Amino acid sequence: MIRLRPVDAQRDTPLLERLADPSVAGPFNHFPETDGAPLRVALPGAGRVIVELADGTAIGDLTWFGVPYGPTRPSLAWRIGITILPEHRNQGHGARAQRLLAERLLETTPSHRVEADTSVDNMAEQKALERAGFLREGVIRGSQLRNGEWGDQVMYGFTRAELQSPRP
Ligand SMILES: CC(C)(COP(=O)(O)OP(=O)(O)OC[C@H]1O[C@@H](n2cnc3c(N)ncnc32)[C@H](O)[C@@H]1OP(=O)(O)O)[C@@H](O)C(=O)NCCC(=O)NCCS
Repeated sequence: MIRLRPVDAQRDTPLLERLADPSVAGPFNHFPETDGAPLRVALPGAGRVIVELADGTAIGDLTWFGVPYGPTRPSLAWRIGITILPEHRNQGHGARAQRLLAERLLETTPSHRVEADTSVDNMAEQKALERAGFLREGVIRGSQLRNGEWGDQVMYGFTRAELQSPRP
């Protein structure tokens, strides 16, 4: 029902431009210039895939990068992010895509943990993550500057133990 495939720079340019548009990225995923210059650092292990339906329709993207929780390779967790096009939301695609990516990252790397943070006000993403089998772990206070205000993020985690939980 949902597939993840590599980005095709030429074919996916219109989709990627649309996903970056504030009207699509949404209030929780768009940061005006007044919030400061974009962070330009090479994030460890960073990747991106396109989310598509079985008929090949591209409906969004998923990104990830590594967050070290210790000095050895297995302690690198994967932090994921997602955008689904508005016309494809609220059909379970976001939950399924994030579960699929979490499973794939744990299958293909020695990491033990996949995580996602989102605004405490982003109820759609919180529900999608919970449906995907991520567990709510806590609030990261004053962590994100958006529209000139420091907001709180909720942290969700999916460890190898959660591979046993029902798929969405
Ligand atoms: C967050 C996002 C990826 C979810 O994708 P999706 O395909 O709609 O996800 P799902 O359909 O699997 O789940 C969405 C859930 O949120 C619910 N929901 C949607 N809007 C909501 C709202 N304003 N308040 C409460 N619940 C809401 C839906 O009913 C659904 O719940 P359900 O599974 O109990 O029916 C999508 O909304 C999106 O791309 N938003 C813009 C980008 C973004 O915010 N990304 C995350 C940044 S951290």
